[in-house]
Amino acid sequence: MIPIVTVCTERLLLRPFLMTDAEAVHRLAGSKDVAAGTFLPHPLDRQAAQDWIGERLKNHAAGTGVTFAITLPESAAVIGSIGMDIVVEHEQGRLSYWLGIAYWNRGYGTESVTAMMDYGFNNLKLHRIYAPHFHTNPASGRVLQKVGMTHEGRLREHYLRFGQRIDVELYGMVRDDVVQRRQPVTGRNVS
Ligand SMILES: CC(C)(COP(=O)(O)OP(=O)(O)OC[C@H]1O[C@@H](n2cnc3c(N)ncnc32)[C@H](O)[C@@H]1OP(=O)(O)O)[C@@H](O)C(=O)NCCC(=O)NCCS
Repeated sequence: MIPIVTVCTERLLLRPFLMTDAEAVHRLAGSKDVAAGTFLPHPLDRQAAQDWIGERLKNHAAGTGVTFAITLPESAAVIGSIGMDIVVEHEQGRLSYWLGIAYWNRGYGTESVTAMMDYGFNNLKLHRIYAPHFHTNPASGRVLQKVGMTHEGRLREHYLRFGQRIDVELYGMVRDDVVQRRQPVTGRNVS
């Protein structure tokens, strides 16, 4: 069972998704530019957004994943999502994340991935965290470089997305790579 926590970073509050976030998910993740770097359903109507949140909550309950809504503490606005699929047997997590377009290029992606990695290594005691990103999505690769992940290789024509075969760049980090380069984030239990 993965405990329900919120994670505070310098500028963000990461908290579990609520069904009432479906409108924000529809509005932000419904954009094709956001969907293009991910496997988010597209188009993403309100029902699909609800289903997407429901799937995240189900995975959390089953212990196979954890996903946080990325929110701005001052307004409580949802601006994106950061999640990890977890394979307990291998103590590994696979990152996925997106932000609404209006919030790109302000460092929020890097801040969220950093927090999720701290949470994965420190709280969930994972051994390995990795992230594949589409070769066509250099901003995501830059985020993974900035958080200190290692580029582990390219998977040629690995995925088919919107009718295009896409090379995938694989980034990863194992526990031994984690140097004490930053303070652990504050995670606190929620009742
Ligand atoms: C990927 C994503 C989460 C990045 O979030 P973000 O908050 O913009 O990321 P940051 O601001 O922390 O960092 C972005 C970096 O990419 C760089 N960047 C942005 N566009 C770029 C481009 N076209 N080519 C190269 N670098 C680019 C920025 O300059 C910045 O690097 P810098 O700090 O060295 O200048 C966001 O673009 C997004 O949600 N995209 C759609 C969904 C998606 O692709 N998710 C990832 C799935 S693997």
